[in-house]
Amino acid sequence: MNAPVRLLVHGASGRMGQSLLRQCADRDDCTVVAAVARSVGQRVVDGIPYVAPGGFEGMPAVDAIIDFSLPDAFDAILGAAEARGVAFVSGTTGLSDAQRAALDAAAGRIPVLWTANFSLGVALLGELVERAAAALPGWDCDIVEAHHVHKLDAPSGTALALGGCAQSAGASPRYASLRTGDIVGEHTVQFATAGERIELVHRATNRDIFARGALYAATRLVGRPPGRYRLQDLF
Ligand SMILES: NC(=O)c1ccc[n+]([C@@H]2O[C@H](COP(=O)([O-])OP(=O)(O)OC[C@H]3O[C@@H](n4cnc5c(N)ncnc54)[C@H](OP(=O)(O)O)[C@@H]3O)[C@@H](O)[C@H]2O)c1
Repeated sequence: MNAPVRLLVHGASGRMGQSLLRQCADRDDCTVVAAVARSVGQRVVDGIPYVAPGGFEGMPAVDAIIDFSLPDAFDAILGAAEARGVAFVSGTTGLSDAQRAALDAAAGRIPVLWTANFSLGVALLGELVERAAAALPGWDCDIVEAHHVHKLDAPSGTALALGGCAQSAGASPRYASLRTGDIVGEHTVQFATAGERIELVHRATNRDIFARGALYAATRLVGRPPGRYRLQDLF
């Protein structure tokens, strides 16, 4: 059996970070050897050494970095992945155009996978949206998304990615966002014309699916040549 992939989890104190740590503990193909969270600082928690944000030069050797944090924290951790020459997997949403360009530039040196949604169902939904938009020219296209009250960016990164699929097939999507309760993530892409309407809906009920997808990506990205990868490239 191959040695477990050594991971650094950035944003380890967050909802996604905690799900990653829990799931990784149950797997034998990966192991978390370092974590980063501002609120934890530099100490060992449950056997995992936490590195202070910005203190990446002192971090242990890793094969891949998984980042689920906030745009403010993104530049430093992408820089650390490039400096170490390790695979970079990120699901942080709300990135600026400059940060997206930095991901492209980093992909010249390391394998990079960023996606707004690590669920397989959403990857398929994107394909269905593209087909519907191509088949229904002139129909209205609206994307309605709902998330928990703590989510900061709107529309969600997933809504924008689905909108990109619709746009690439000729539609002009509009967006509406709800922030309420503890909803993990719901996306409805609606195509409407006089007298009829189609709705394509994806509901995530447990954020563990995203962490599972990110671990799937990290364990398959290690050892690949530099480049920008999509989740479906690793299936
Ligand atoms: N792509 C996907 O499939 C997917 C799925 C779910 C969520 N997301 C995205 O993933 C991100 C995290 O979501 P979440 O629900 O886990 O958020 P969260 O619970 O608010 O956690 C955010 C994490 O980022 C850390 N952080 C924030 N600012 C930082 C800084 N300046 N330096 C270092 N660490 C910093 C926080 O650490 P401290 O609080 O300790 O400072 C915390 O660990 C969001 O962008 C969200 O939209 C993506």
